Amino acid sequence: MLVADKISKTFHSGSVENRILKNISIKIDTGQFICVVGRSGSGKSTFLNILSTLLKPDKGSVVFEGQDITTLPENKINSLRQRDFAIIFQFHHLMPYLTVTENVLLPYMNKLMPVPKSVIRRAEECIDRVGLGARRNMLPGRLSGGEQQRVAVGRALVKSPEILFADEPTGNLDKKTGDEIISLMKNLNNEGLTIIMVTHELSYISCADRVVVIEDGIIKEVSADSCY
Ligand SMILES: Nc1ncnc2c1ncn2[C@@H]1O[C@H](COP(=O)(O)OP(=O)(O)OP(=O)(O)O)[C@@H](O)[C@H]1O
Ligand SMILES: [Mg+2]
Repeated sequence: MLVADKISKTFHSGSVENRILKNISIKIDTGQFICVVGRSGSGKSTFLNILSTLLKPDKGSVVFEGQDITTLPENKINSLRQRDFAIIFQFHHLMPYLTVTENVLLPYMNKLMPVPKSVIRRAEECIDRVGLGARRNMLPGRLSGGEQQRVAVGRALVKSPEILFADEPTGNLDKKTGDEIISLMKNLNNEGLTIIMVTHELSYISCADRVVVIEDGIIKEVSADSCY
């Protein structure tokens, strides 16, 4: 379970204060699929980044499995990110000169030690899982946009994360390719993965158990039906 309690975040540009999140609280149960929506600039990425430890709130706490992760030392945060949290973005950030398999294994590559065979097997399973078994030796440049994003999903899955955070994972894709990514994510959620996804695409919120709207720095929870 992930609990955000009264988180606030203000950005300063010159003398202007921009209060983006004002005392936001939410409790997310294991296995839920949450969609976060709201207009551009409303604070969706800021919210997701705080939940996923990429950004610290000014005030408030984020508690994961009983531990306040906003006050953890950097080494503990790193191991949390390596073990339990996976994050995918609008742009997939693949290395163009590495194959699909090598990209998926990238977080495990270490100049000093070979990647353990068990991790390679797990990577291959994840590549199959995202439907790219036949493409595992290709370079990303030879894949479609949707296939490239699927590599990013595969890379996120290798560690068997507790939570998948996704910031507009379909934002750079056409509708049909985006639909494929969402259906892959929905299948992963049906298998028990907790997903917190920011999206602009209102048709995707029907996948969600809960829809959270960020507006004027606060969150409103709405039912998926009322967004249409
Ligand atoms: N590091 C930063 N420094 C200053 N201002 C920032 C910073 N990060 C975000 N902001 C501002 O905070 C506001 C919210 O940004 P955020 O990226 O969370 O919005 P968003 O809802 O994800 O928007 P979009 O839908 O366009 O991605 C914006 O006005 C943005 O300019
Ligand atoms: Mg954003």
